[in-house]
Amino acid sequence: MPESVVDLRSDTVTRPTPGMWAAIQAAEVGDDVFGEDPTVNRLQERVAALLGKEAALYVPSGTMSNQICLKAHTQPGDELLCDVGCHIYNNEVGGPAVLSGVTCRTIAGDHGILDVSQLEDKIRPVDDHLVRTRLVALENTHNRGGGRVYALEKIRAISAWAHQHGLLMHLDGARLWNAIVVRGIPAAEWGRHFDSVSVCFSKGLGAPIGSALAGTREFVTKAKRIRKLLGGGMRQAGIAAAAALYAMDNHVERLAEDHRNARVIAQAIADSPGLHLDPPDVETNLIWFEVDPEFATAKDVAAMLKQRGILISAAGSYRMRACTHLDVSAPQAQRAAETIRSALTSMNHRPFSRDAQTSAVPLSSANRA
Ligand SMILES: Cc1ncc(COP(=O)(O)O)c(C=O)c1O
Repeated sequence: MPESVVDLRSDTVTRPTPGMWAAIQAAEVGDDVFGEDPTVNRLQERVAALLGKEAALYVPSGTMSNQICLKAHTQPGDELLCDVGCHIYNNEVGGPAVLSGVTCRTIAGDHGILDVSQLEDKIRPVDDHLVRTRLVALENTHNRGGGRVYALEKIRAISAWAHQHGLLMHLDGARLWNAIVVRGIPAAEWGRHFDSVSVCFSKGLGAPIGSALAGTREFVTKAKRIRKLLGGGMRQAGIAAAAALYAMDNHVERLAEDHRNARVIAQAIADSPGLHLDPPDVETNLIWFEVDPEFATAKDVAAMLKQRGILISAAGSYRMRACTHLDVSAPQAQRAAETIRSALTSMNHRPFSRDAQTSAVPLSSANRA
């Protein structure tokens, strides 16, 4: 990617830094399917300790991590409760149904954030006709919710209620690191309210590959068998685990820079005609916004900014997402902000072209979710 291009499409587009490459090159490795990769073992111990769990397991992706946890916790015919916009339900290829035979009962949170009062009447009674409510899955920070961070108190209330009613708690913590930095609350304080936690190294932390799940030793033993079933048993995986360890040492505190840069870009979006931040407040590294349908489509705005060297994802007909990350410096964020402001202002001065207007995908409730 040329230096002149600012790639805000995702926080997964980062390249390893020189320090991370050096850690990868120096990694001590072995066959992890035999449990003999010292770097993977070190990473797993570190993640377990950090999250306050007995054990952890290194896996290739966040999707596999979430789906292994769901499969380990459930039986076919079970149901999980989750926010309607969560990654597990929307972006994991129907994994709960396909891999675990589990239905998802979705609930509309406030930008992804659920309140215990919304869950209290959602446990199915014991009845031969009904699925068995088994698990609550939360996402923190919440991707489609605009990078929103849970208040710890809300999680505590949901967890206490769930456990009181015999439900299990899973956390999709792909971006838990961002929540830790924003709230100044350590990982274990979040983790203690969940039976399983998944974290990703390949998003804000900037590692090329990998996630980890954590829970009790018994749970992780079960999870390891499911990882093998899904083809996720890796051999000299220490090469990748070394990058994750390096990232945990070097790339957590710096997430505050991503959050600052996100606010600079968010302000430009708020100032630009035809764009509306949703949610209006940006706390972490994700900026979600809407394009006014009278003005243009998300695809049109993405194409116009791309011509000016700014890459932003269209995530629906009129919905867009920009992410800051390790490979976006403060001056680049500033440049992106100036480009957005000036491009959108000049775009607004011209009536939008007929072609662009007719290219709009019809707005449905699904893609506005
Ligand atoms: C909240 C959330 N969970 C899980 C995942 C899945 O991670 P992966 O892309 O590593 O499968 C993502 C990916 O962006 C995500 O945003």
